[in-house]
Amino acid sequence: MSDLVVAITGASGSIYAVRLLDALLSLGRNVHLTVSPAACQVIKHELGLSIDLASLDESDLLPPDADLVHDSRLGVRRVSGSSGLGNSSVFSESESSRGRLTYHHYMDFSAGIASGSFLTDGMVICPCSMGTLASIAHGQSSNLIQRAADVHLKERRKLIVVPRETPLGSIQLDNMKRLTDAGAVVLPAMPGFYHNPTSIQDLVDFVVGRICDQLGVRHALFKRWGGQNATEDA
Ligand SMILES: Cc1cc2nc3c(=O)[nH]c(=O)nc-3n(C[C@H](O)[C@H](O)[C@H](O)COP(=O)(O)O)c2cc1C
Repeated sequence: MSDLVVAITGASGSIYAVRLLDALLSLGRNVHLTVSPAACQVIKHELGLSIDLASLDESDLLPPDADLVHDSRLGVRRVSGSSGLGNSSVFSESESSRGRLTYHHYMDFSAGIASGSFLTDGMVICPCSMGTLASIAHGQSSNLIQRAADVHLKERRKLIVVPRETPLGSIQLDNMKRLTDAGAVVLPAMPGFYHNPTSIQDLVDFVVGRICDQLGVRHALFKRWGGQNATEDA
């Protein structure tokens, strides 16, 4: 099992990114994280968390007044606090083998994830701004996020982009088509309602669960249609 790459860009919906990291680390996956400056602005605005891109670590996203509760969906103990998820957590503390988080500055082109020779099991850009989506669709590679995405496409590895914008214009739709044609999965932050959500957490977990499905990461973040247990083998 290789590491996963997660990039956070400046679209609305940073709550999805935080929960995605929470889920992947809790489920024992090692994650390489990179964050754009615009994402910092959105995270500050939406979650009230200040991030220093020069030296980010988990504790920047972990509330200081944390206390441990049980997260049945992830099957782990987790840290609760004021992360924007109500009573929910930013990061989890697995009772068994929690994954490792490695942070890379968004302009550090010497990071392993900038090279195709660095093996991964896939990359997620969540949320993905229209700006980053356009840059990847046109091969710009002008920062580490775009370069790592380009690498995943050229190596024919999984690239999942999670755009958040509405309504969509023709340029944005064209760019999504270009990315899909190039092999990416365009997975809009567009929660369903057929699992009868009753909280923001339910809506967030639906989207995060669908991302995990695409990565092949087993989870129980939402109740599946047809009564199938989310953690069962297909
Ligand atoms: C609070 C806030 C919310 C934003 N929401 C979105 C959004 O939902 N979708 C989007 O494409 N851009 C959104 N933007 C604009 C992007 O942050 C901006 O286009 C930026 O250049 C994206 O840079 P990045 O792709 O390097 O992160 C938002 C900006 C702010 C400050």
